[in-house]
Amino acid sequence: MKDDPNHVYIFDTTLRDGEQSPGASLNHREKMEIAHQLALLNVDIIEAGFPIASPGDFNAVKAIAESVKGPTIAGLARCIDKDISRCAEAVAAAEKARIHVFLATSKIHREFKLKKAEHEILKQAEASIKYARTFVDDVEFSPEDASRTEPEFLAQMVEAAIAAGATTVNIPDTVGYAIPSEFGDLIKRLFDTVPNIQDAIINVHCHNDLGLAVANSLAAVQAGARGVECTINGLGERAGNAALEEVVMALKTRGDQFDGLHTAINTERLYKASRLVSQLTGMAVQRNKAIVGANAFAHESGVHQDGMLKERSTYEIMRPQDVGIEATELVLGKHSGRHAFRHHLTEMGLVLSDEELERSYERFITLADKKKQIYDDDLLMIAREEMTEASDVYVLDQLHVSTGTDTVPTATVRICKGDDTFQDAACGDGPIDAALKTIDRITGIQGKLIDFSLQAVTVGKDAMGEVSVRVKFETGELLSAKSASTDIVEAGARAYLSCVNRLVSSRMKDDDEA
Ligand code: KIV
Ligand code: ZN
Repeated sequence: MKDDPNHVYIFDTTLRDGEQSPGASLNHREKMEIAHQLALLNVDIIEAGFPIASPGDFNAVKAIAESVKGPTIAGLARCIDKDISRCAEAVAAAEKARIHVFLATSKIHREFKLKKAEHEILKQAEASIKYARTFVDDVEFSPEDASRTEPEFLAQMVEAAIAAGATTVNIPDTVGYAIPSEFGDLIKRLFDTVPNIQDAIINVHCHNDLGLAVANSLAAVQAGARGVECTINGLGERAGNAALEEVVMALKTRGDQFDGLHTAINTERLYKASRLVSQLTGMAVQRNKAIVGANAFAHESGVHQDGMLKERSTYEIMRPQDVGIEATELVLGKHSGRHAFRHHLTEMGLVLSDEELERSYERFITLADKKKQIYDDDLLMIAREEMTEASDVYVLDQLHVSTGTDTVPTATVRICKGDDTFQDAACGDGPIDAALKTIDRITGIQGKLIDFSLQAVTVGKDAMGEVSVRVKFETGELLSAKSASTDIVEAGARAYLSCVNRLVSSRMKDDDEA
């Protein structure tokens, strides 16, 4: 893998660390869609999941290994034989397969979590790497909590891991504690002291607890690391991981600071990938998020606008089209045919069955009657909803709300479950509260709305409203979902029902697996 010394490997862990974000769980089909989108983006490695964690994780890694071509497909495993053999089974069918084993090395983890001495950790890691190498040639080792590990011991671990057969050694800042100068120094020190370091690729995996994940990753690259582990939109445990789009665009835009280093990412697909991941995980992207936020290329001040008109580079360091934003301007109109419609969805990474395509197309035509301009985001919303509805237990059939300044907000809701139809009504503090209470009455599942946010999907007064909800259920599950409609009460009800459906389908899956 080390043919081009200037190549920075992009290791995407959206489907593993990203999926560990509270509330961001993805179903099998959603994982497949994201994996295909990552392949189009041309990431080098997709970490598809943690196969031993659950049969669902195993099946997703296996299906991705079987069908996604291009990137290396990696699975995560603890330094335990049964984890490794399960992971090997999951990635076996990949064109290029990797087993990624990890074991904590910091004093805190050794003493409190593992209750093991340094030499035991060293021995366990070596044995696991050797065992993983009996299945695949591409083995990655991560000393978890590396940034808080004693540097001498870390260097010993890295040397032993490479000697045992690790082809990539990853240095994680597991708890997002490092700062850039310190993390860069740590990587440099490894390059200076580990004798066999040139025999492996050094990756970094930075968490964002102090908002420094991207800065730390870039400092590590300047110090010699050639692989960055990251996620779309910076999803991940707690405050997340380094955002892939930020790392890639920093390397591209500030190439002068990175000595000719480059990635293989198709940057014009970054925005599409960001939208897809946001849609499927229900995790909204903040408006001012770098690279892919709605305001990332918006110039508000008169002085800036004037400067931009005279010379774009006065206030713009990247072009929106470089990350695929301009390509999302007006795409289709009501006279567009099914063929163009399908082509557009495929371009966005969505593969629909004929039935789903037909339903989506009908909704698109209805929307095109209400709204003059249809954008990629509008299409993504429609298709996404039609795709999930096919596997959803509860489908919203009708919603009627009555509200106003002098009336008690009331909702009537009709929901289909298979061939059965259920209808009920309830009052609430507002139309959304009334609609959600009615859904609770029909499904018999009580959810508490933890978060409700509204954002216009595109521009204009006729834009669809995108509602993101986070719902906590009685049994403790926390789930997120999004929906959009020109009617925001309907969008709220659909997003809420989508969380209910996710809950029901994960319970059904647990029952099947039990
Ligand atoms: O943050 C971390 O240390 C991890 C490892 C499993 C690489 O996610
Ligand atoms: Zn992590």
